[in-house]
Amino acid sequence: MKTIKTQVGIIGAGPAGLTLANWLKQQGISSVIIEHRSQEYVQARVRAGLLEQNTVDILKNLGLADRLVKEGQEHHGVYLNFDGKRIRVPFGKLTNGRNITIYGQQEVVKDLTEAWVNGGETLLFEAPALELDGLETSSPKIHFEHEGEKGIIECDFIAACDGFHGLGRKSMPKDAYKEYTITYPFSWLGILAHVAPSSEELIYAYHERGFALHSLRSEKVSRLYIQVDNDDHVDNWTDEQIWEELSIRLGTEGWKLNSGPIFEKSITPMRSYFIDNMQHGRLFLAGDAAHIVPPTGGKGLNLAVADVKHLVDGFTDFYKNNSMKALDNYSEIALKRIWRAQDFSNFMTTLFHKQYEHGSFQYQLQKAKFDYISLSEAYATTLAENYVGLPFEAFG
Ligand code: FAD
Ligand code: PHB
Repeated sequence: MKTIKTQVGIIGAGPAGLTLANWLKQQGISSVIIEHRSQEYVQARVRAGLLEQNTVDILKNLGLADRLVKEGQEHHGVYLNFDGKRIRVPFGKLTNGRNITIYGQQEVVKDLTEAWVNGGETLLFEAPALELDGLETSSPKIHFEHEGEKGIIECDFIAACDGFHGLGRKSMPKDAYKEYTITYPFSWLGILAHVAPSSEELIYAYHERGFALHSLRSEKVSRLYIQVDNDDHVDNWTDEQIWEELSIRLGTEGWKLNSGPIFEKSITPMRSYFIDNMQHGRLFLAGDAAHIVPPTGGKGLNLAVADVKHLVDGFTDFYKNNSMKALDNYSEIALKRIWRAQDFSNFMTTLFHKQYEHGSFQYQLQKAKFDYISLSEAYATTLAENYVGLPFEAFG
Protein backbone atom coordinates (compact mmCIF):
# COMPACT_ATOMS: atom_id res chain seq x y z
CA MET A 1 0.00 0.00 0.00
CA LYS A 2 1.44 3.33 -1.16
CA THR A 3 0.72 6.35 1.09
CA ILE A 4 1.31 9.89 -0.15
CA LYS A 5 1.04 12.91 2.12
CA THR A 6 0.36 16.35 0.68
CA GLN A 7 -1.61 19.50 1.47
CA VAL A 8 -4.10 19.36 -1.44
CA GLY A 9 -4.95 16.07 -3.13
CA ILE A 10 -6.07 16.75 -6.71
CA ILE A 11 -8.16 14.33 -8.77
CA GLY A 12 -7.93 14.85 -12.54
CA ALA A 13 -5.24 16.20 -14.89
CA GLY A 14 -7.51 18.29 -17.10
CA PRO A 15 -7.26 22.09 -17.31
CA ALA A 16 -8.73 22.56 -13.81
CA GLY A 17 -6.46 20.12 -11.95
CA LEU A 18 -3.28 21.14 -13.75
CA THR A 19 -3.87 24.88 -13.36
CA LEU A 20 -4.66 24.40 -9.68
CA ALA A 21 -1.53 22.35 -8.99
CA ASN A 22 0.84 24.74 -10.77
CA TRP A 23 -0.73 27.80 -9.16
CA LEU A 24 -0.71 26.33 -5.65
CA LYS A 25 2.97 25.48 -6.06
CA GLN A 26 3.71 29.14 -6.73
CA GLN A 27 1.91 29.98 -3.48
CA GLY A 28 4.10 27.49 -1.61
CA ILE A 29 1.27 24.95 -1.19
CA SER A 30 2.01 21.30 -1.99
CA SER A 31 -0.26 19.06 -4.05
CA VAL A 32 -0.30 15.75 -5.91
CA ILE A 33 -2.40 14.90 -8.98
CA ILE A 34 -3.87 11.51 -9.86
CA GLU A 35 -5.37 10.97 -13.31
CA HIS A 36 -7.54 8.06 -14.37
CA ARG A 37 -6.41 7.99 -18.01
CA SER A 38 -3.02 7.60 -19.69
CA GLN A 39 -0.92 10.63 -20.62
CA GLU A 40 -1.35 9.83 -24.33
CA TYR A 41 -5.14 9.70 -23.99
CA VAL A 42 -5.43 12.96 -22.06
CA GLN A 43 -3.15 14.84 -24.42
CA ALA A 44 -4.86 13.56 -27.57
CA ARG A 45 -8.40 14.40 -26.41
CA VAL A 46 -9.71 17.08 -28.79
CA ARG A 47 -11.88 19.64 -27.06
CA ALA A 48 -11.88 23.37 -26.44
CA GLY A 49 -10.00 26.01 -28.34
CA LEU A 50 -11.26 29.37 -27.16
CA LEU A 51 -9.44 31.00 -24.26
CA GLU A 52 -10.88 34.10 -22.62
CA GLN A 53 -8.73 37.07 -21.72
CA ASN A 54 -8.81 36.04 -18.02
CA THR A 55 -7.52 32.54 -18.80
CA VAL A 56 -4.68 33.86 -20.95
CA ASP A 57 -3.76 36.46 -18.30
CA ILE A 58 -3.68 33.80 -15.57
CA LEU A 59 -1.43 31.49 -17.60
CA LYS A 60 0.85 34.41 -18.48
CA ASN A 61 1.09 35.52 -14.85
CA LEU A 62 1.99 31.97 -13.84
CA GLY A 63 4.79 32.02 -16.43
CA LEU A 64 3.16 29.09 -18.24
CA ALA A 65 2.20 30.79 -21.48
CA ASP A 66 5.42 30.86 -23.55
CA ARG A 67 4.06 28.54 -26.25
CA LEU A 68 0.55 29.98 -25.98
CA VAL A 69 1.92 33.46 -26.72
CA LYS A 70 3.95 32.12 -29.65
CA GLU A 71 1.41 29.77 -31.21
CA GLY A 72 -1.96 31.04 -30.00
CA GLN A 73 -3.94 33.40 -32.21
CA GLU A 74 -5.43 36.49 -30.65
CA HIS A 75 -8.81 37.43 -32.17
CA HIS A 76 -10.23 40.92 -32.04
CA GLY A 77 -13.75 40.12 -33.21
CA VAL A 78 -16.20 37.42 -34.21
CA TYR A 79 -18.49 36.93 -37.22
CA LEU A 80 -22.15 36.06 -36.83
CA ASN A 81 -24.25 34.73 -39.72
CA PHE A 82 -28.04 34.54 -39.89
CA ASP A 83 -29.76 33.17 -43.00
CA GLY A 84 -26.67 34.01 -45.04
CA LYS A 85 -26.26 37.57 -43.74
CA ARG A 86 -22.92 38.14 -41.97
CA ILE A 87 -22.03 40.78 -39.38
CA ARG A 88 -18.90 41.28 -37.30
CA VAL A 89 -18.82 42.06 -33.58
CA PRO A 90 -15.52 43.81 -32.80
CA PHE A 91 -14.17 43.25 -29.28
CA GLY A 92 -11.57 45.99 -28.91
CA LYS A 93 -13.92 48.93 -29.07
CA LEU A 94 -16.77 47.28 -27.15
CA THR A 95 -14.77 45.69 -24.32
CA ASN A 96 -11.93 48.09 -23.68
CA GLY A 97 -9.40 46.02 -25.55
CA ARG A 98 -10.24 42.57 -24.15
CA ASN A 99 -9.85 39.68 -26.60
CA ILE A 100 -9.99 35.92 -27.01
CA THR A 101 -7.14 33.61 -28.01
CA ILE A 102 -7.45 30.42 -30.02
CA TYR A 103 -5.14 27.72 -28.62
CA GLY A 104 -6.14 24.06 -28.33
CA GLN A 105 -7.04 22.64 -24.93
CA GLN A 106 -4.64 19.73 -25.51
CA GLU A 107 -1.84 22.24 -25.94
CA VAL A 108 -2.75 23.92 -22.61
CA VAL A 109 -2.81 20.48 -21.00
CA LYS A 110 0.59 19.57 -22.51
CA ASP A 111 2.19 22.84 -21.35
CA LEU A 112 0.85 22.55 -17.80
CA THR A 113 1.74 18.86 -17.50
CA GLU A 114 5.28 19.53 -18.68
CA ALA A 115 5.76 22.41 -16.23
CA TRP A 116 4.48 20.26 -13.36
CA VAL A 117 6.41 17.09 -14.13
CA ASN A 118 9.63 18.88 -15.13
CA GLY A 119 9.45 20.71 -11.81
CA GLY A 120 9.79 17.31 -10.11
CA GLU A 121 6.18 17.13 -8.91
CA THR A 122 3.95 14.06 -8.72
CA LEU A 123 1.33 13.29 -11.35
CA LEU A 124 0.25 9.66 -11.53
CA PHE A 125 -1.40 8.65 -14.81
CA GLU A 126 -3.66 5.58 -15.04
CA ALA A 127 -4.38 6.12 -11.36
CA PRO A 128 -8.16 6.29 -10.79
CA ALA A 129 -9.52 7.66 -7.51
CA LEU A 130 -11.77 4.91 -6.15
CA GLU A 131 -13.18 6.32 -2.94
CA LEU A 132 -13.00 9.43 -0.77
CA ASP A 133 -13.32 9.45 2.98
CA GLY A 134 -13.02 11.74 5.99
CA LEU A 135 -14.51 14.65 4.03
CA GLU A 136 -15.99 16.13 7.19
CA THR A 137 -12.69 15.85 9.10
CA SER A 138 -9.48 17.88 8.78
CA SER A 139 -7.62 14.91 7.23
CA PRO A 140 -9.59 13.59 4.25
CA LYS A 141 -8.25 10.72 2.15
CA ILE A 142 -8.30 9.69 -1.49
CA HIS A 143 -8.13 5.95 -2.10
CA PHE A 144 -6.72 5.15 -5.52
CA GLU A 145 -5.09 2.45 -7.60
CA HIS A 146 -1.84 2.65 -9.58
CA GLU A 147 0.14 -0.07 -11.36
CA GLY A 148 -2.00 -2.75 -9.78
CA GLU A 149 -1.36 -1.44 -6.27
CA LYS A 150 -3.77 0.34 -3.93
CA GLY A 151 -2.76 3.74 -2.55
CA ILE A 152 -3.95 6.52 -0.25
CA ILE A 153 -3.43 10.25 -0.48
CA GLU A 154 -3.59 11.80 2.99
CA CYS A 155 -4.21 15.52 2.69
CA ASP A 156 -5.78 18.62 4.24
CA PHE A 157 -8.16 19.17 1.31
CA ILE A 158 -9.39 17.29 -1.75
CA ALA A 159 -9.91 19.17 -5.02
CA ALA A 160 -12.12 17.14 -7.35
CA CYS A 161 -11.16 18.41 -10.81
CA ASP A 162 -12.34 15.15 -12.29
CA GLY A 163 -14.81 16.24 -14.95
CA PHE A 164 -18.49 15.54 -15.40
CA HIS A 165 -18.26 11.76 -14.86
CA GLY A 166 -15.80 12.00 -11.95
CA LEU A 167 -15.96 10.72 -8.40
CA GLY A 168 -15.98 14.09 -6.60
CA ARG A 169 -19.58 15.09 -7.16
CA LYS A 170 -20.77 11.52 -6.57
CA SER A 171 -19.04 11.58 -3.17
CA MET A 172 -21.13 14.51 -1.95
CA PRO A 173 -24.31 13.61 -0.06
CA LYS A 174 -27.31 13.98 -2.40
CA ASP A 175 -28.94 16.52 -0.08
CA ALA A 176 -25.83 18.77 -0.09
CA TYR A 177 -26.77 20.37 -3.40
CA LYS A 178 -29.54 21.06 -5.85
CA GLU A 179 -28.94 20.13 -9.46
CA TYR A 180 -30.08 21.95 -12.60
CA THR A 181 -30.02 20.42 -16.04
CA ILE A 182 -31.12 21.02 -19.63
CA THR A 183 -30.48 18.55 -22.44
CA TYR A 184 -30.77 20.17 -25.86
CA PRO A 185 -32.41 18.26 -28.71
CA PHE A 186 -29.28 18.44 -30.88
CA SER A 187 -25.55 17.64 -30.87
CA TRP A 188 -22.41 18.90 -32.62
CA LEU A 189 -20.50 16.95 -35.21
CA GLY A 190 -16.99 18.42 -34.90
CA ILE A 191 -14.11 17.95 -37.34
CA LEU A 192 -10.44 18.84 -37.57
CA ALA A 193 -9.09 19.19 -41.09
CA HIS A 194 -5.73 19.84 -42.70
CA VAL A 195 -6.76 23.00 -44.49
CA ALA A 196 -6.02 26.69 -44.02
CA PRO A 197 -8.89 28.45 -42.18
CA SER A 198 -11.30 30.21 -44.53
CA SER A 199 -11.73 33.07 -42.08
CA GLU A 200 -9.28 34.78 -39.73
CA GLU A 201 -11.98 34.98 -37.06
CA LEU A 202 -14.64 32.54 -35.88
CA ILE A 203 -18.03 32.38 -37.65
CA TYR A 204 -21.18 31.29 -35.78
CA ALA A 205 -24.06 30.63 -38.19
CA TYR A 206 -27.80 30.08 -37.99
CA HIS A 207 -29.15 28.44 -41.12
CA GLU A 208 -32.48 26.75 -41.77
CA ARG A 209 -30.52 23.48 -42.17
CA GLY A 210 -29.00 24.01 -38.70
CA PHE A 211 -26.13 25.64 -36.80
CA ALA A 212 -22.53 25.71 -38.04
CA LEU A 213 -19.31 27.06 -36.54
CA HIS A 214 -16.04 27.82 -38.25
CA SER A 215 -13.07 27.80 -35.89
CA LEU A 216 -9.40 27.01 -36.31
CA ARG A 217 -6.33 25.68 -34.60
CA SER A 218 -3.46 27.02 -36.68
CA GLU A 219 -2.62 28.44 -40.09
CA LYS A 220 -2.91 24.93 -41.49
CA VAL A 221 -5.66 23.34 -39.39
CA SER A 222 -9.35 24.26 -39.34
CA ARG A 223 -11.87 23.21 -36.67
CA LEU A 224 -15.52 23.16 -37.75
CA TYR A 225 -18.82 22.03 -36.31
CA ILE A 226 -22.36 21.37 -37.56
CA GLN A 227 -25.58 20.76 -35.67
CA VAL A 228 -26.82 17.16 -35.99
CA ASP A 229 -29.56 15.11 -34.32
CA ASN A 230 -28.82 13.52 -30.95
CA ASP A 231 -29.06 10.01 -32.39
CA ASP A 232 -26.82 10.78 -35.37
CA HIS A 233 -23.49 8.97 -35.84
CA VAL A 234 -20.20 10.02 -37.49
CA ASP A 235 -20.44 7.04 -39.84
CA ASN A 236 -23.59 8.57 -41.35
CA TRP A 237 -21.47 11.41 -42.75
CA THR A 238 -18.96 11.22 -45.59
CA ASP A 239 -16.31 13.93 -45.74
CA GLU A 240 -17.94 15.35 -48.88
CA GLN A 241 -21.31 15.62 -47.15
CA ILE A 242 -19.76 17.42 -44.17
CA TRP A 243 -17.98 19.97 -46.37
CA GLU A 244 -21.10 20.53 -48.45
CA GLU A 245 -23.24 21.10 -45.37
CA LEU A 246 -20.66 23.45 -43.84
CA SER A 247 -20.41 25.38 -47.05
CA ILE A 248 -24.19 25.87 -47.26
CA ARG A 249 -24.70 26.76 -43.60
CA LEU A 250 -21.73 29.12 -43.28
CA GLY A 251 -22.22 30.65 -46.72
CA THR A 252 -22.51 34.33 -47.42
CA GLU A 253 -22.08 36.35 -50.60
CA GLY A 254 -18.49 36.64 -51.82
CA TRP A 255 -17.05 34.10 -49.35
CA LYS A 256 -15.80 30.60 -50.04
CA LEU A 257 -15.10 27.74 -47.63
CA ASN A 258 -11.80 25.89 -48.17
CA SER A 259 -12.05 22.13 -47.75
CA GLY A 260 -9.32 19.56 -47.10
CA PRO A 261 -8.59 16.15 -45.56
CA ILE A 262 -10.53 15.55 -42.34
CA PHE A 263 -8.43 13.80 -39.65
CA GLU A 264 -10.79 13.85 -36.65
CA LYS A 265 -14.57 13.50 -36.39
CA SER A 266 -16.67 13.24 -33.26
CA ILE A 267 -20.16 13.99 -31.95
CA THR A 268 -20.77 15.93 -28.72
CA PRO A 269 -24.18 16.24 -27.06
CA MET A 270 -25.29 19.69 -25.88
CA ARG A 271 -26.07 20.00 -22.22
CA SER A 272 -26.35 22.61 -19.49
CA TYR A 273 -25.81 21.21 -16.00
CA PHE A 274 -24.77 22.56 -12.67
CA ILE A 275 -25.10 22.15 -8.95
CA ASP A 276 -25.57 25.01 -6.53
CA ASN A 277 -22.94 23.91 -4.00
CA MET A 278 -19.34 23.03 -4.86
CA GLN A 279 -18.07 22.21 -1.36
CA HIS A 280 -18.71 19.49 1.16
CA GLY A 281 -16.50 19.73 4.27
CA ARG A 282 -12.92 19.48 2.98
CA LEU A 283 -13.97 18.46 -0.57
CA PHE A 284 -14.07 21.15 -3.28
CA LEU A 285 -15.27 20.67 -6.86
CA ALA A 286 -13.88 22.69 -9.79
CA GLY A 287 -14.59 22.76 -13.53
CA ASP A 288 -16.75 20.23 -15.36
CA ALA A 289 -17.05 18.24 -12.11
CA ALA A 290 -19.57 20.88 -11.01
CA HIS A 291 -20.91 22.37 -14.23
CA ILE A 292 -21.31 21.78 -17.96
CA VAL A 293 -22.30 24.40 -20.51
CA PRO A 294 -23.09 23.82 -24.18
CA PRO A 295 -19.91 24.82 -26.08
CA THR A 296 -21.62 27.52 -28.18
CA GLY A 297 -20.20 30.27 -25.96
CA GLY A 298 -16.76 28.65 -25.52
CA LYS A 299 -17.05 28.87 -21.74
CA GLY A 300 -16.27 25.40 -20.27
CA LEU A 301 -12.51 25.50 -19.94
CA ASN A 302 -12.61 29.16 -18.98
CA LEU A 303 -15.06 28.50 -16.16
CA ALA A 304 -12.79 25.71 -14.92
CA VAL A 305 -9.85 28.14 -14.73
CA ALA A 306 -12.02 30.80 -13.04
CA ASP A 307 -13.08 28.25 -10.36
CA VAL A 308 -9.42 27.49 -9.78
CA LYS A 309 -8.63 31.16 -9.18
CA HIS A 310 -11.19 31.28 -6.35
CA LEU A 311 -9.91 27.99 -4.92
CA VAL A 312 -6.32 29.24 -4.92
CA ASP A 313 -7.47 32.41 -3.11
CA GLY A 314 -9.18 30.18 -0.55
CA PHE A 315 -6.28 27.78 0.02
CA THR A 316 -3.82 30.68 0.22
CA ASP A 317 -5.97 32.38 2.86
CA PHE A 318 -6.14 29.11 4.80
CA TYR A 319 -2.39 28.43 4.82
CA LYS A 320 -1.34 32.05 5.37
CA ASN A 321 -4.02 33.17 7.85
CA ASN A 322 -5.38 29.88 9.16
CA SER A 323 -8.85 30.96 8.00
CA MET A 324 -11.58 28.94 6.27
CA LYS A 325 -13.50 32.12 5.44
CA ALA A 326 -12.53 32.41 1.74
CA LEU A 327 -12.87 28.64 1.23
CA ASP A 328 -16.31 28.60 2.80
CA ASN A 329 -17.24 31.43 0.42
CA TYR A 330 -15.91 29.52 -2.63
CA SER A 331 -19.23 28.21 -3.97
CA GLU A 332 -20.97 31.52 -3.60
CA ILE A 333 -18.33 33.51 -5.45
CA ALA A 334 -17.74 30.90 -8.19
CA LEU A 335 -21.47 30.48 -8.81
CA LYS A 336 -21.93 34.13 -9.77
CA ARG A 337 -19.78 33.62 -12.87
CA ILE A 338 -21.23 30.17 -13.49
CA TRP A 339 -24.79 31.52 -13.63
CA ARG A 340 -23.64 34.27 -16.00
CA ALA A 341 -21.92 31.71 -18.23
CA GLN A 342 -24.97 29.42 -18.12
CA ASP A 343 -27.14 32.28 -19.32
CA PHE A 344 -24.71 33.36 -22.04
CA SER A 345 -24.12 29.81 -23.31
CA ASN A 346 -27.87 29.23 -23.41
CA PHE A 347 -28.36 32.55 -25.23
CA MET A 348 -25.77 31.68 -27.90
CA THR A 349 -27.13 28.15 -28.23
CA THR A 350 -30.78 29.17 -28.68
CA LEU A 351 -29.84 32.08 -30.96
CA PHE A 352 -27.86 30.01 -33.47
CA HIS A 353 -29.38 26.51 -33.48
CA LYS A 354 -32.31 25.39 -35.59
CA GLN A 355 -34.88 24.22 -33.10
CA TYR A 356 -38.11 25.60 -34.46
CA GLU A 357 -39.88 25.71 -37.81
CA HIS A 358 -38.28 28.24 -40.16
CA GLY A 359 -40.59 31.29 -40.15
CA SER A 360 -42.28 30.35 -36.84
CA PHE A 361 -42.70 32.75 -33.90
CA GLN A 362 -39.61 31.33 -32.14
CA TYR A 363 -37.60 31.66 -35.35
CA GLN A 364 -38.67 35.30 -35.64
CA LEU A 365 -37.45 35.91 -32.08
CA GLN A 366 -34.04 34.45 -33.01
CA LYS A 367 -33.91 36.68 -36.07
CA ALA A 368 -35.02 39.75 -34.08
CA LYS A 369 -32.13 39.17 -31.66
CA PHE A 370 -29.64 38.85 -34.50
CA ASP A 371 -30.97 42.01 -36.18
CA TYR A 372 -30.77 43.86 -32.87
CA ILE A 373 -27.09 42.87 -32.42
CA SER A 374 -26.40 44.37 -35.84
CA LEU A 375 -28.13 47.68 -35.12
CA SER A 376 -27.50 48.31 -31.42
CA GLU A 377 -24.03 48.90 -30.04
CA ALA A 378 -25.44 48.29 -26.54
CA TYR A 379 -26.66 44.79 -27.48
CA ALA A 380 -23.46 43.99 -29.38
CA THR A 381 -21.51 45.10 -26.28
CA THR A 382 -23.51 42.70 -24.10
CA LEU A 383 -22.56 39.86 -26.42
CA ALA A 384 -18.91 40.95 -26.72
CA GLU A 385 -18.26 41.41 -22.99
CA ASN A 386 -19.72 38.00 -22.17
CA TYR A 387 -17.86 36.36 -25.04
CA VAL A 388 -14.41 37.66 -24.07
CA GLY A 389 -15.27 36.99 -20.39
CA LEU A 390 -16.06 39.43 -17.62
CA PRO A 391 -13.15 40.50 -15.42
CA PHE A 392 -12.96 39.03 -11.91
CA GLU A 393 -13.73 42.44 -10.36
CA ALA A 394 -17.14 42.44 -12.09
CA PHE A 395 -18.46 39.83 -9.64
CA GLY A 396 -17.24 41.57 -6.49
P1 FAD B 1 -11.77 17.59 -17.80
O1 FAD B 1 -11.02 18.22 -18.91
O2 FAD B 1 -12.90 16.68 -18.14
O3 FAD B 1 -10.72 16.81 -16.91
C1 FAD B 1 -11.09 15.92 -15.88
C2 FAD B 1 -10.05 14.85 -15.75
O4 FAD B 1 -10.36 14.02 -14.62
C3 FAD B 1 -10.02 13.92 -16.95
O5 FAD B 1 -8.70 13.88 -17.47
C4 FAD B 1 -10.49 12.57 -16.40
O6 FAD B 1 -9.87 11.48 -17.04
C5 FAD B 1 -10.08 12.69 -14.94
N1 FAD B 1 -10.86 11.82 -14.03
C6 FAD B 1 -12.19 11.55 -14.04
N2 FAD B 1 -12.53 10.69 -13.05
C7 FAD B 1 -11.37 10.40 -12.40
C8 FAD B 1 -11.05 9.55 -11.28
N3 FAD B 1 -12.00 8.84 -10.64
N4 FAD B 1 -9.76 9.50 -10.87
C9 FAD B 1 -8.78 10.21 -11.50
N5 FAD B 1 -9.04 11.02 -12.56
C10 FAD B 1 -10.31 11.13 -13.00
N6 FAD B 1 -14.57 25.10 -23.35
C11 FAD B 1 -14.08 26.34 -23.61
O7 FAD B 1 -13.79 27.08 -22.66
N7 FAD B 1 -13.91 26.83 -24.87
C12 FAD B 1 -14.22 26.07 -25.95
O8 FAD B 1 -13.99 26.50 -27.09
C13 FAD B 1 -14.78 24.77 -25.72
N8 FAD B 1 -15.10 23.96 -26.76
C14 FAD B 1 -15.49 22.68 -26.52
C15 FAD B 1 -15.75 21.87 -27.62
C16 FAD B 1 -16.14 20.56 -27.41
C17 FAD B 1 -16.44 19.71 -28.60
C18 FAD B 1 -16.22 20.02 -26.07
C19 FAD B 1 -16.59 18.58 -25.83
C20 FAD B 1 -15.95 20.83 -24.98
C21 FAD B 1 -15.59 22.16 -25.18
N9 FAD B 1 -15.31 23.01 -24.11
C22 FAD B 1 -14.91 24.29 -24.36
C23 FAD B 1 -15.42 22.51 -22.73
C24 FAD B 1 -14.06 22.13 -22.11
O9 FAD B 1 -13.40 21.19 -22.93
C25 FAD B 1 -14.27 21.57 -20.69
O10 FAD B 1 -15.09 22.46 -19.98
C26 FAD B 1 -12.93 21.36 -19.95
O11 FAD B 1 -12.31 20.19 -20.39
C27 FAD B 1 -13.15 21.25 -18.42
O12 FAD B 1 -11.93 20.98 -17.79
P2 FAD B 1 -11.86 20.14 -16.43
O13 FAD B 1 -10.43 20.12 -16.04
O14 FAD B 1 -12.87 20.64 -15.49
O15 FAD B 1 -12.37 18.68 -16.82
C1 PHB C 1 -13.31 25.50 -30.85
O1 PHB C 1 -12.41 26.11 -31.46
O2 PHB C 1 -13.23 24.28 -30.64
C2 PHB C 1 -14.49 26.23 -30.36
C3 PHB C 1 -14.54 27.61 -30.52
C4 PHB C 1 -15.66 28.30 -30.07
C5 PHB C 1 -16.70 27.61 -29.50
C6 PHB C 1 -16.64 26.24 -29.34
C7 PHB C 1 -15.54 25.54 -29.78
O3 PHB C 1 -17.80 28.30 -29.10
